[in-house]
Amino acid sequence: MSLESNKIAAAVLMAGVIAMTSGFIAGILVHPHALKESVYKVEGVESAAAAAPAAPAVLAPVAPLLASADVAAGEAQSKKCVACHTFNQGGPNRVGPNLWDIVGAKHAHAQGFAYSDAIKSKPGDWTYEDLNAFLASPRAYAPGTKMAFAGLPKAEDRAALIAYLRTLSGSPKPLP
Ligand code: HEC
Repeated sequence: MSLESNKIAAAVLMAGVIAMTSGFIAGILVHPHALKESVYKVEGVESAAAAAPAAPAVLAPVAPLLASADVAAGEAQSKKCVACHTFNQGGPNRVGPNLWDIVGAKHAHAQGFAYSDAIKSKPGDWTYEDLNAFLASPRAYAPGTKMAFAGLPKAEDRAALIAYLRTLSGSPKPLP
C-alpha cells in the first residue's frame, strides 16, 4: 500500500472515530425528557392522558336548586361550552351538537350529528337529573362519550347552567 492510500484510510478511520465519539458524548451531555403533560391547556378540556375524574358516589339531585338558580350565572357558565356547542335555535352542530331545546329532548337529539354509542344507547329523554349527572362528569354518566369535557364539579354551577339551558326553548319545560 502506498503512503498516500494509508493516509486516506487513516483519515476515513479518524472521521469515523470522531463521529462516534461525539455522538456518545452528546448522549451523555443531553438528556431529552418527554413532557409529562401538554403545556398548552384549554380550560375544561381534558388531555387524552388525564384519568377520568372520580365521580362522586352519589350525586345530590339538582331539582331542589333549580327554582332559585341564577340563569345569568348559567349563561356565563355556558361560555365553557361554546368552543364545541351552539345554543341558538337552528344553530349548526360543531364539535358537539346544537343545544337549543335540549331539556326534555331525547338523547342524541340533533339531526345529522354523529353521536357516540354511549349517548345513542341512553334510553329516554334528557331530564334535569340526566343533565346534572352528565355535566358533573360526562365520562362517568356515559362511559365512551365523545364529549371531551372534564365536568362542572360545583352543584350550583350545574344548576345555574341547567336553568339557563331550560330557557333555550320555544316552550320551556316546567321546573321539577
Ligand atoms: C370539547 C368539546 C365540548 C365541550 C367543551 C362541551 N361539549 Fe357537550 N358535547 C360534545 C360532543 C362531542 C358531544 C357528543 C357526545 C357523544 O356523542 O358522545 C356533546 C354532547 C352534549 C350533550 C348531549 C346532546 C344530545 O343531543 O344528546 C349535551 C347536553 C352537552 N353536550 C352539553 C354540554 C354543555 C352544557 C357544555 C358546557 C358545560 C358542554 N357540553 C361542553 C362536545 C363538547
